[in-house]
Amino acid sequence: LDYDLVIVNGIVVTDDAISEVDIAIKGEQIASLGPRGSFSNDIAGRTIDAEGGYITPGGIDAHVHLEEPQLFGKGSSADTFETGTRSAICGGTTTIIAFAPQQRTEDSLLSTLEATHKKAEGKCYTDYSFHLLVSNPSDRALAEFSILREKGISSLKIYMTYAALQLNDGQILDILLAAREHGITTLIHAENNDLILWMTAQLEKRKMLAPRYHATSHPAMAEIEATYRAICLSEFIDVPILLVHISSPAAAAHIRSAQSRGLPVYAETCPQYLFLTKADLDKPGFEGAKCVCSPPPRENEQDQEGIWQGLEDGTFTVLSSDHCPFIYDDSETGKKTCVTAEYPEGQFKYIPNGCPGVETRLPLAMSAERLEIKRFVEVTTTNAAKLYGLYPRKGTLSAGQSDADLVIWYPSGKLGTFALTNGMLHHNVDYTPYEGKTLTQWPRYTILRGSVMWDRDGEGLVGKAGQGSFLHRDKSSLKGPLSSEPWDIRGF
Ligand code: URP
Ligand code: ZN
Ligand code: ZN
Ligand code: ZN
Repeated sequence: LDYDLVIVNGIVVTDDAISEVDIAIKGEQIASLGPRGSFSNDIAGRTIDAEGGYITPGGIDAHVHLEEPQLFGKGSSADTFETGTRSAICGGTTTIIAFAPQQRTEDSLLSTLEATHKKAEGKCYTDYSFHLLVSNPSDRALAEFSILREKGISSLKIYMTYAALQLNDGQILDILLAAREHGITTLIHAENNDLILWMTAQLEKRKMLAPRYHATSHPAMAEIEATYRAICLSEFIDVPILLVHISSPAAAAHIRSAQSRGLPVYAETCPQYLFLTKADLDKPGFEGAKCVCSPPPRENEQDQEGIWQGLEDGTFTVLSSDHCPFIYDDSETGKKTCVTAEYPEGQFKYIPNGCPGVETRLPLAMSAERLEIKRFVEVTTTNAAKLYGLYPRKGTLSAGQSDADLVIWYPSGKLGTFALTNGMLHHNVDYTPYEGKTLTQWPRYTILRGSVMWDRDGEGLVGKAGQGSFLHRDKSSLKGPLSSEPWDIRGF
């Protein structure tokens, strides 16, 4: 037999082409793409008929929180590497990049990396990597950047907010300079912490404590100011950054303007800013608290529209989930930690921030039929592969170069319409903020390096924990610093 798996009658979509071709897989790689009928049944171990459905490269979700202890002092993430990647694969995501969170009390990053490897190894249903989450940029930590690169890590995340994680501007400059020297991309959570704390105190004085005031306490201006500040700091050092989970069109406008000046400023948005608004925080009972995340869902449909626009016009490089799972009905580590007898719907200040979404990211975006299909591929996988040093092994379907990671979608109309329920999902969370949303698409098959992992019309999840491997990443292949010279103080 020439091939292990052949997929016929699909419409193969990459970020730059839509082709009616058949796919031949040998071992873990895409071996060949050919016109219809190129690969007959008798030369392959198995043939799948895509029946005219789209075939897209497996999704890359570059923003996933798994097994993080005591996130921001408000509870620990409910999904392990096993349950989180199980959920991912059933929703068409074949690679995740999770966080390796450094504790403030540690001055090394290498011990953080080792500890995170231990959690993930042998457990994952998807391929995986980590962004180092730096909360203590000690001299030692900064000196370890070159070793991180040798160990296949080419990105890190920092926070401008949250007491336990926030860095000041001088610390951010230290990190950006070291990141520039070592070809590392810095992800920045941009919100003005003092503005948030000040608004929180104002609201508390007035006894405005319900979940919806979470949004009031995290106004768009906090994101706008910090986004612009982050852009200024990155321009000063001449180093690429990615602004994570952008929710406000006005913050996106600062990013757009930086990009139009040729700066290597990249941005991410998430489904919660496309499908939720502030009104979701105001749902009765505890329902509102389930949708609390930071930044919060914004005012109205116009804001959602602005974010869709940014995905269409390239302002947003990637659409990630920011999967941040808390079990709702757990009074010790879950969302319910914020409930008291006096405030049964939860006090906003104590609600753990974050929503689950690693499994629903692709089905929601595909069902919305809002993005042109090549653009869908670009923001859900190709650009993440390029930015995070995985291209063309991941993020595309290139014969002889790409892993056979792919999603086979249903032929248009085949599924009709159906309501999303948490019962369909495979995470370790007892709710989805998208309960009841109407969908028309779901991955029919998810294939990881040639192995069918998810077969929706068959036995569902057929892959095994441990089939996913750690991915050694290179540096970004998107535009880097404008100057190829080292940063030099004599230039100022
Ligand atoms: O509310 C959120 N987004 N929680 C996850 C942590 C983060 O800042 O990404
Ligand atoms: Zn160095
Ligand atoms: Zn964040
Ligand atoms: Zn996050």
